[in-house]
Amino acid sequence: MYHARVIVANNPEEAGKFAADVFEAEIAKKPACVIGLATGSTPLPLYRELIAREKAGKIDFTRVRSANLDEYKGLAPNHEQSYRKFMQDNLFDHISIRPENTIVPLGLAEDVDAMCDAYERMIEAWGGVDLQLLGIGHDGHIGFNEPDDHFPAKTHEVKLTEMTINANKRFFNSADEVPRAAITMGIGTIMAAKKIVMMVTGADKKEILKKTFWGKVDPQVPASILQFHPDVTLVCDKDAYPF
Ligand code: F6R
Repeated sequence: MYHARVIVANNPEEAGKFAADVFEAEIAKKPACVIGLATGSTPLPLYRELIAREKAGKIDFTRVRSANLDEYKGLAPNHEQSYRKFMQDNLFDHISIRPENTIVPLGLAEDVDAMCDAYERMIEAWGGVDLQLLGIGHDGHIGFNEPDDHFPAKTHEVKLTEMTINANKRFFNSADEVPRAAITMGIGTIMAAKKIVMMVTGADKKEILKKTFWGKVDPQVPASILQFHPDVTLVCDKDAYPF
């Protein structure tokens, strides 16, 4: 493992607090910083903690900008399972961040390529992502960058794998309702972030976590490229920690 700091928490709630420390420090240092955000189950304790810390006066989100990693293709922003709705419900509606300062790829874009280009340009115009939050899929995906023979660079459309469709069907009435495609920041977009915090919790993530940071760098394990990022903090719980 190259460069990464590893913090092993006792449980997911504590992992959320450690990750929140990194966000609190970043926002204190740069009140108008750009944070990259993720959806899924793993960041929920972090989002609860960030909400609590702003209420306690420890964090101020009024100047923070945020860019989310990904969105399902074909879902409207107010769809129950859209990632925009997830962010509103679990974070944005409870903190002082300005709506115009939050971006999530548009699931309903007619011209997906043009939307992806615009997404990249918006992040560039903001000066790039200062602190990117990541979770990890069981197959090593980050964002929706699935195992592949190369590391895709920029924000783009992807076809979801059966493994991801199965993992995500718990949020839908059935696997048939899970969208088959998504829009995601590329691996290049993610690697361009100045700092990265990856949260990994639960025994089911132990094997992929080991491959990611202690295996070889391989596009079949997309997250393994993080070994080459100069500023990664891995926050895991002891169930996920492989040693
Ligand atoms: C979500 C995302 C995904 C998730 C990953 C893990 O925006 O980018 O890569 O981080 O699928 O999901 P959970 O946390 O639900 O296990």
